[in-house]
Parts: sequence; structure tokens; C-alpha cells
Amino acid sequence: MEKEFVIGISGASGIIYAHRMLEILTRSAQVHLIISDAARIIASVEGVELEGFDACYYSNDMLTAKIASGSFRHDGMAIVPCSMKTLASIAAGISESLITRVADVSLKERRRCILLLREMPFNRIHLRNMLDANDAGATIMVASPGFYHRPEQISDLVDMVVARILNHLGVNHDLEVGWEGMDEGAHRSTEK
Ligand SMILES: Cc1cc2nc3c(=O)[nH]c(=O)nc-3n(C[C@H](O)[C@H](O)[C@H](O)COP(=O)(O)O)c2cc1C
Repeated sequence: MEKEFVIGISGASGIIYAHRMLEILTRSAQVHLIISDAARIIASVEGVELEGFDACYYSNDMLTAKIASGSFRHDGMAIVPCSMKTLASIAAGISESLITRVADVSLKERRRCILLLREMPFNRIHLRNMLDANDAGATIMVASPGFYHRPEQISDLVDMVVARILNHLGVNHDLEVGWEGMDEGAHRSTEK
């Protein structure tokens, strides 16, 4: 059966991560997409178009949507990117928007809830909220790509982060960003 995911896009920089996630996820899964008002502003600032994906779109104030209920069973939620405000609401259990409500429900129902944070530097409140959200069951990620796959363009960096999120959601993908290893010195224990 086709998997179903909820993707929240909140008002942090890095909307391009959400765009790439949607490109890949909508190929093989059903996507319920919530975009906050701040995310729409930042998408426009960053020149990223979020309309036109094969997804079910919700506005962030649609608290009566079926995805707001615990009886709606999905295969995971990811907030990409996740603002410090949305993180704070989730950490405090304040479900005043559809994104934070679905996150709250995902945590209580023990479903995957990934938060891709973007801020720099972090203050104590951010750090404490990360720990609280982690302890409640969320997976904290930061939009911080590695460089060992020798990125040549921005899309290589974006793919590095998106691949990690997809791995955690259990979604197959063909993004080639894994570590190949340096196994020259490795040998079987029976070999001399
Ligand atoms: C251009 C722009 C970039 C922003 N980037 C970030 C960011 O990277 N991280 C963050 O936590 N907030 C950022 N903000 C602030 C949030 O958008 C703001 O706190 C907003 O209320 C978040 O609302 P939401 O979480 O409901 O989307 C940015 C705001 C603007 C206008």
C-alpha cells in the first residue's frame, strides 16, 4: 500500500529543502502538505515555488482537517524546515496551528516526527526546546550538510540533508550522498 506522510513547512530559511523533499516523496507516496504563512513569505524571498506538487495542500489554520486527529494513521511527519517558533510550540505542547497539532498528535501516537531546524547560533531556549522535543519522541535534525561527498553545487548540499530525512522516514531514494568508506586496510580475521 502507498505510504502517507505529513510534511510541514514552517518559516525558517531553507525552503529549498522542502522543495526537494516534495519532488522525491510525491513520486512514491501520498503527501499531506501544510505550509505556514511565514513559510510562504520566505519561499517568496528565497525564490522557491511550492505550488504544483501532487500533494494534498492544507493551510496552517485548518485545525478541523482529518490529519489533525490521532485516528488518522500516517507513516511519519517531517517539518522541513522547522522554525524556532514552531519548535518552541511543539516542545511546550501548544497546538495552535495544524503543523504543531499534527506534530503533537504524532508524538502522542508514537509516530515518526522529524524536525529539520535552521537557526544560528542557538540560544539556551532553543537548545532546551530541542531536548524537550527529543525526549518527547521527535527526531531533531539540523540543516547542516556534510561535505565528504564533495558537493559541486547547491543541489548536492540540499540532497545530502534531504537523503538523511528520507532515510529516517524509511523512504527509498536514489540520492547518491552516502559515505563509500575507506576500507583499504580492512581484512577478514582469518586472513594474515
Ligand atoms: C526572511 C526570513 C527568514 C527567517 N529565517 C528563520 C530561520 O532560519 N529560523 C527561524 O527559526 N526563524 C526564521 N525566521 C523567523 C520566523 O519566520 C518567524 O519566527 C515566524 O513567526 C515563524 O512562524 P512559523 O513557525 O509559524 O512558520 C525568518 C523570518 C524571515 C522573514
